[in-house]
Amino acid sequence: MKQGKNKLHKLAYKKDTLEKRQSNADTTSGERTAAPQINPIFEIEIQQNTMKKNLFIAFEGIDGSGKSTQVKLLAEHLEKAGHKVYSTFEPTDSPIGALIRNIFSHKMEADHSVIAGLFVADRLDHLLSKTNGILKKLEEGYTVITDRYYFSSYAYHGTHMSMDWVIEANSLSADLLRPDLNIYIDISPEVSMKRLLNGRSSLELYETSENLRNVRAKYFEAFEQLKFKETIFVTDGNRLAEAIASDVWQEILQMTVGTNTH
Ligand code: ADP
Ligand code: TYD
Repeated sequence: MKQGKNKLHKLAYKKDTLEKRQSNADTTSGERTAAPQINPIFEIEIQQNTMKKNLFIAFEGIDGSGKSTQVKLLAEHLEKAGHKVYSTFEPTDSPIGALIRNIFSHKMEADHSVIAGLFVADRLDHLLSKTNGILKKLEEGYTVITDRYYFSSYAYHGTHMSMDWVIEANSLSADLLRPDLNIYIDISPEVSMKRLLNGRSSLELYETSENLRNVRAKYFEAFEQLKFKETIFVTDGNRLAEAIASDVWQEILQMTVGTNTH
């Protein structure tokens, strides 16, 4: 475990998928072998010449954890390193996503299992849409960053129903595309509630301290359960946004240019 980082699991790297996608991107890939820490003098050159250019990265965390802030900062870093970047989010802005948002803002009512089912459909559309689906974007050589993916479902719906059911219900998405990296930004429910109340006059369906405490616990339960299938990086979200972004960037560099020191 590296200092200053809470690395949970770094397993089951989907090298085959990455290599297949990499062949569609515009630069050569670096081998993932043990190597020393990057010398900053060479960092830019490494980023531009050997960094894999076709990644799928998912940000996760409870509400207000700083995901959209980090998506933006990472997109800037990646673009500087020569990636074409497509940033996206769930719930999406499709009609299914709109339905979900109506439920969250209390305009409509639905059972938790219905919401879980809607997210299964929203996610499949997010992946498979012929216009701007994630799979299409990856085929086109983009690195895709998403603000939430299936771990959100495991945690948010696993709080109200069987998490195994939720995992099973999302298995088609998982078979279609696992993130090269799931990044969990860890903040406490108290910090989350403070941030949410700061920026808004009303709260959404799942935005209560008690629920967010349960959701956070479910995230860690899901990480433990899936540690042999998923690549997960947990970072402390109670720091300056730039410090978090720097850790995320180092993690991605180490993952993509083969400079893992452990
Ligand atoms: P999310 O997408 O997870 O809801 P946001 O990025 O929208 O989170 O951030 C939620 C709120 O917290 C925003 O007001 C944002 O400016 C603020 N914020 C984001 N990152 C940090 C941070 N590291 N420290 C303090 N506040 C932050
Ligand atoms: P989001 O807009 O990302 O909220 P925030 O920016 O506050 O984190 O997500 C809206 C809500 O959707 C959030 O409460 C989490 C919930 N959600 C689920 O319940 N299941 C899911 O599968 C996803 C992707 C999100």
